[in-house]
Amino acid sequence: MDRQPAGHSTSGDNAPLIDIIAGARPNFMKIAPIIRAIDARRAQGSRLRWRLVHTGQHYDARMSADFFEQLNIPEPDVNLEVGSGSQAEQTAAIMIRYEQLLMKQRSSLCLVVGDVTSTMACAITAQKLCIPVAHVEAGIRSGDWRMPEEINRMATDAVTNYFFTTSEVANDNLRRNGVPEERIFFVGNTMIDTLLAHMSRLRAPAFWETMALVPGEYFVMTLHRPANVDTEAGFRSVLLAVADAVRGMKVVFPVHPRTAKTLSALGGLPPNLLLVEPQPYLEFNYLVKHAKGVITDSGGVTEETTVMGVPCVTMRDSTERPETVDIGTNELIGTDPVRLRPTLDRLFANQWRRGSIPPLWDGRTGERIAAELERVLDAGNS
Ligand code: UD1
Repeated sequence: MDRQPAGHSTSGDNAPLIDIIAGARPNFMKIAPIIRAIDARRAQGSRLRWRLVHTGQHYDARMSADFFEQLNIPEPDVNLEVGSGSQAEQTAAIMIRYEQLLMKQRSSLCLVVGDVTSTMACAITAQKLCIPVAHVEAGIRSGDWRMPEEINRMATDAVTNYFFTTSEVANDNLRRNGVPEERIFFVGNTMIDTLLAHMSRLRAPAFWETMALVPGEYFVMTLHRPANVDTEAGFRSVLLAVADAVRGMKVVFPVHPRTAKTLSALGGLPPNLLLVEPQPYLEFNYLVKHAKGVITDSGGVTEETTVMGVPCVTMRDSTERPETVDIGTNELIGTDPVRLRPTLDRLFANQWRRGSIPPLWDGRTGERIAAELERVLDAGNS
């Protein structure tokens, strides 16, 4: 499955090789600008090389391949093809297969993004082989140990050498954990690089016409966290509360695979809930951009709504992205569906905060990361 790392023939075997790890949907939009920025530096003579490693944690076309195509991400050099499993099964499979890859061809640095299982598994594997780790989106914390993502964030940061951060809050969290200042690089948000780069290409999904969607007159919803979707009774009460709180407006609901499992057992859902497949990037963000509001339990979506100025209601008790609440358009309401109605009443009464864009979420984060990587790997123009 592997092929020669990008730039192999032109840079020589001793040029620094960065493994770029991606495994699950929220990783893909974060790696795209980094690859682009490294390639831009290579075109200027940098010796940096990269090898794209897809762990295969997400494997459906709808969860993976569509994103590669739309975001112009090159084919992975290696696909570890780990597929589904429990947290431990996935972690173990990724570690075993990534270790085998590193034993065959060592890299100079392992770059991981976000907080998914692949992030943590590859960071630990690399560091145990004394390969330094760079973590993009380091330092964010929800404080909620019931979420696997929080464990992944803590474990990854515990073995990270270079911390690329999205916010001052993240910087402070790292300082409190004793990370030395010179290891923290406040660079901004690569997910927003991708959003800004593709804003003019966003496009309506095919069902836009058939569902008769009108800008500002529908909601978008994404829910996939166990607390919201794993029990039938709990999930049903959330769906009924949403359908009621939106005052008859349509709710476009792209259904994540784990959500689909619970949904398939629920009959008789309100007709204004429009269930659709997971959407590709350009269509999903088109829907969000033109929505009256978004209801979600995702972290990344709250960053995108903040930048697009779209009101966002997060059905979680905590967030690792407090700037989306303090500066942006996001509001945390917890997982009790009774909060939905009064919250959306304020939206319908035009009482939602307008919000602004957090510092350095400016579309240039990938460039800043590539510049730092070049510096720490000493791979400038030779
Ligand atoms: C993962 C991430 C989460 C992220 C989410 C976005 C972790 C711990 N969690 O959660 O942070 O918000 O992705 O999508 O890494 N499945 C498919 N097709 C796929 C992928 C998954 O059917 O392409 C199924 C799996 O079989 C599994 C379920 O969906 O039953 C959940 O997938 P999994 O990778 O375990 O984690 P997510 O819940 O997607």
